[in-house]
Amino acid sequence: MSRHWAERYCSVVSAVTTTPSADDGNTARASLAGLRFCLVGPGKVGSSLAHWLVEHGAALVEVGARRPEAAQSWARSLAGRAVSIEQLGATERLGKAPSEAPLAAEGAAGKPRDSLPDLLLIAVSDPAIEDVARTLSRDPPARIALHTSGSRGAEALAPLASSMATGSFHPLKAFPRVLRHPEEAAGTLFAIDGAAPATALARRLATAWGGVTTEVPAAARPLYHFAASLAAGGVVTLLATADRIAQQQGLDPIITQGYLDLAIGALRAARQAESPTAAITGPLARGDLETAANQLELLAESDPAALPLCGQLAMETLRHLGLPAAQRQSAAVRLGLNRREGKDDMNG
Ligand SMILES: NC(=O)c1ccc[n+]([C@@H]2O[C@H](COP(=O)([O-])OP(=O)(O)OC[C@H]3O[C@@H](n4cnc5c(N)ncnc54)[C@H](OP(=O)(O)O)[C@@H]3O)[C@@H](O)[C@H]2O)c1
Repeated sequence: MSRHWAERYCSVVSAVTTTPSADDGNTARASLAGLRFCLVGPGKVGSSLAHWLVEHGAALVEVGARRPEAAQSWARSLAGRAVSIEQLGATERLGKAPSEAPLAAEGAAGKPRDSLPDLLLIAVSDPAIEDVARTLSRDPPARIALHTSGSRGAEALAPLASSMATGSFHPLKAFPRVLRHPEEAAGTLFAIDGAAPATALARRLATAWGGVTTEVPAAARPLYHFAASLAAGGVVTLLATADRIAQQQGLDPIITQGYLDLAIGALRAARQAESPTAAITGPLARGDLETAANQLELLAESDPAALPLCGQLAMETLRHLGLPAAQRQSAAVRLGLNRREGKDDMNG
């Protein structure tokens, strides 16, 4: 490996998140000044990104929502205006201030393309993206469109592609609620793809917020997104299983906290290691198959439902540790896995 993966990631992040001086602080916050944007989908991600954009000097023009009345006061708090998705851009095309604009945009005279907002940010749930793009394709309300889905690439905006530069802009971050502060974006990785003007704008936004971008093409999107779920939800599910196994032994519930701290420490170590694989610990990493076999045997009695997962995890650990297929086969025998749940895939 030419350069440590985490070092490469951290150096990019620190290059764009270097602590600003007092003056730089204002400059940093104004780094998107002049950029005008519309949002469709004022949910957790859309609202968060709108806050980050406005905090950095961008101007919210309109918010397109299924229930504009529910989004109106929030949109106004950011100096924008909520409209139905069908009406998005009508005001701009008529060239009137929001208060002057009629709610219907019948016969809207086209405004010069240069006066359109720069960005249409689409942050609706994944299955709705293409429908929204189709609806907006009748009268595109901005010059560049970006969606925030991880599982789809720019192709999800195909209905808009003939009239706008389209791309994806997926923050690899959990948004359990609206995250208003742009500091939340610092260090966030954004997976992007699409037409050059769209990826250029995506990079500009991420850089302004102290984030990092990387291209993830459409073909790789489904499994990129699956792996992201594994890295977040999958790890938490494993923790829940670990916790259940301990609770079945009637142990003090404080063990849960201990496991969480243990996991956090392991993840920190993985971040500092040459690669995540280099940070694997436990009996299997020490070559102690006997201990692992005993533990799996006890697990088969106390929580048989967890055994297939834990057996597969043991085999996957051995694969990451670089054991050749033949040795994995004999390890499976020593771990009792061949008896209990069939064979590991030895081809990988
Ligand atoms: N949450 C995360 O951690 C996270 C992280 C990265 C990326 N993402 C991606 O970001 C996008 C938005 O996710 P989210 O978590 O912000 O979802 P959310 O909080 O549920 O918000 C979704 C928004 O889309 C609107 N919407 C849903 N279906 C629609 C339809 N058929 N037509 C028009 N609008 C529709 C919703 O409107 P209503 O209020 O009317 O329902 C809401 O404003 C998704 O592509 C998701 O995969 C999510």
